[in-house]
Amino acid sequence: MKFERRLETENKVLEEKYDLSNYKESIPMKMMKKWGFALLLLFTPVLTKADEGMWLPQLLKSLNEADMQARGMKMSAEDIYSVNQSSLKDAVVSFGGFCTGELISPEGLVLTNHHCGYGQIQSHSSVENDLLTNGFWAMSREEEIPNPGLFVTFIVRIEEVTSEVLDGITPAMEEEERQERVSLNIDQVVAKATEGTHYGAKVKSMFYGNEYYLFVTETFDDVRLVGAPPSAIGKFGGDTDNWMWPRHTGDFSMFRVYSAPDGSPAKYAEENVPLKPRHFLPINMTGVEDGDFTMVFGFPGRTQEYLTTYSIKPLVETTNPNRIKIRETKLNILKADMDKDAAIRIKYSAKYARVANYYKKWIGENRGLKVTNAIAEKEALEANFQKWADADADRKATYGSLLSKFEQTHKEEQDVILPYNYIREAVYGTEVLTMAAKFRAIIDALPDDKEKSIEGAKAYAKKFFKDYSAATDEKVFAALMGLYHEDIHANFQPALLNAAVKKYKGDMEDYADFIFEKSAMVSEEKVNALLENFNEKAVKQLMKDPAIQLEREFYDIYTQKVKTVMTDTQNALERLNRAYTAGLREMMPEKTFYPDANSTMRVSYGVVDGSNPYDGMRFTSHTYLDGVFQKEMAGADDYIITDRMRELYANKNYGQYADETGKLPVCFTASNHTTGGNSGSPVIDGHGRLIGLNFDRSWESTMSDIKYDKDICRNIAVDIRYVLWVVDVYAGAGHLVEEMTLVKEDPKPVQLPEVEEVVE
Ligand code: ARG
Ligand code: ASP
Repeated sequence: MKFERRLETENKVLEEKYDLSNYKESIPMKMMKKWGFALLLLFTPVLTKADEGMWLPQLLKSLNEADMQARGMKMSAEDIYSVNQSSLKDAVVSFGGFCTGELISPEGLVLTNHHCGYGQIQSHSSVENDLLTNGFWAMSREEEIPNPGLFVTFIVRIEEVTSEVLDGITPAMEEEERQERVSLNIDQVVAKATEGTHYGAKVKSMFYGNEYYLFVTETFDDVRLVGAPPSAIGKFGGDTDNWMWPRHTGDFSMFRVYSAPDGSPAKYAEENVPLKPRHFLPINMTGVEDGDFTMVFGFPGRTQEYLTTYSIKPLVETTNPNRIKIRETKLNILKADMDKDAAIRIKYSAKYARVANYYKKWIGENRGLKVTNAIAEKEALEANFQKWADADADRKATYGSLLSKFEQTHKEEQDVILPYNYIREAVYGTEVLTMAAKFRAIIDALPDDKEKSIEGAKAYAKKFFKDYSAATDEKVFAALMGLYHEDIHANFQPALLNAAVKKYKGDMEDYADFIFEKSAMVSEEKVNALLENFNEKAVKQLMKDPAIQLEREFYDIYTQKVKTVMTDTQNALERLNRAYTAGLREMMPEKTFYPDANSTMRVSYGVVDGSNPYDGMRFTSHTYLDGVFQKEMAGADDYIITDRMRELYANKNYGQYADETGKLPVCFTASNHTTGGNSGSPVIDGHGRLIGLNFDRSWESTMSDIKYDKDICRNIAVDIRYVLWVVDVYAGAGHLVEEMTLVKEDPKPVQLPEVEEVVE
């Protein structure tokens, strides 16, 4: 690499790390900057790792291209995102709106995670035909299974539309008024963008409403299940290994997108044909090493990197510990029942995994924020900000009182944080009360929207009872209502709960017995009968239903005492954060800012790397099949090895998928900034080839949604060679690999453009 280019990059890294740019004028800082370089060069033999950031693909050209190339990328920004020619973005889809997937063949084959396809795989499973346990492979197109409701969405183009969206907005406007106006403007932008096309469109706010971007989309609704490994591979390590490194999970599943015969999106129909995508990812068969460039392309869900300490403290001190506690209670109950009964295990496997996932994440997040001193660091930034604001009369008028307003706003919501979290986690974490909520809504919608609500409730009930165990739910109800009663202030207690505690002398199990005996909500037959014949008698019966009565009281507490306060604070915070992020950008004009993740398409980039999670401890970047067998010796239930796996391992039957040392790679880590929603995202090398499938972060990294730490935070990917080995050798579905493009040699190196400027 050109020396000057390297200097330039390191300059930027150093500046961002220490925020030197604010002090640009000061002479000592200028000197330090100069000497800082020299020192950095002396002690850093390789290029510093990529920092945090989830970048909008259409801005890569102006913001990141040079930096990405300096870190080893051999492509141009135009190869990644282009509206005029096919580019990498055309191979990346939002999978069902909650995960990411990528096209890996010219015939619509989509790769995503096992845990992303889990709901679908589970929905096709029964005790007799358990696709979760046994895996599934369609050996012909006819065997591919349709999935009603599942869709994939491509991004057609992205445009900034800030001025259109903010048309008519004045700074003095109340937040509600502003929101109304903004959404009217957005409707117009969307209508214009989609007029006369089959495209969809969304406008998303960035930096809390400082900027707005339009995403024009194309959605396909016929997405069929092609294959999934057995859970012993796809979920190897289960919840024991979830959010953990070292990892050995083959977390992938495959789907195929179908279009109408003319290539346009269509609902499921027999005559549909495999989609011919504008681009699909070729596969790198030779792997990557430490220091190699990687990028992750996908749809990260939500980060909050610019929160002030006033927002972080209640999260760390109140919200996280309490939702952890509630979920732990629930998980223990579910686990005991699932262990006892195979039918319950299948019914609750997806629900259990969902609850367990963020339970464990929040524990890691709290820990990570503590060990990295996130609060102290952000306090220092806030002190800086205050100083900067106070140093100039105009700035003082705009930003001077921001931080104290944050403090005040959070004081106002203090009393409702606990009830808010308990209602979300304990009340609506209890299944019977969610069913009760559906019926309460039907009664309330009378007479206008009755039909619609009934239709909604029917669909809900069908899914609900397919995966429901009333006996299990009864235990959850008793435990979570007990927690609610113990932990929540009297002002937020439903009268019925108080009365029940009195009547049953605090024995919540007796109360649960009563509810589960008397309520119609826990019986599929009764619920269906009510929905089929929703007459006056039914309404009368429902008004007396004890589960509905209880849920109604919770609902009233929520809408009258909690939501009102929360909405006010959320609106106030939106406004404050809008000003704060604008202020930070003004204060650090040379720093490149990225907007928080908001389920829009983003690119993160970094290098393959291990990490130093604890003092005296180093995580290396790759795991191999041998590790699967080492874990088995640890003996936990989550480490299951199938006979087929044993046999292939004993014979070292790795096909063409072993690395140059003869070992079969399984997972690797890299320094790409990712979050929930990035699951299933392609991990791509410097040439635009697929090297792995993103599926997790290490536990020590989970605070990266609030504070990214470049020494600790690593994303976890399953190596594409492991994926293909499972498909081809393990499962004997080599016909799928034949659809793909496997690349065994590096393309000729591309000459980077010369850099003119020489650093002084
Ligand atoms: N932690 C990963 C992510 O947030 C994977 C979760 C799926 N696995 C599980 N055991 N719950 O989605
Ligand atoms: N496992 C996450 C997902 O499902 C990814 C992450 O949070 O790192 O998107």
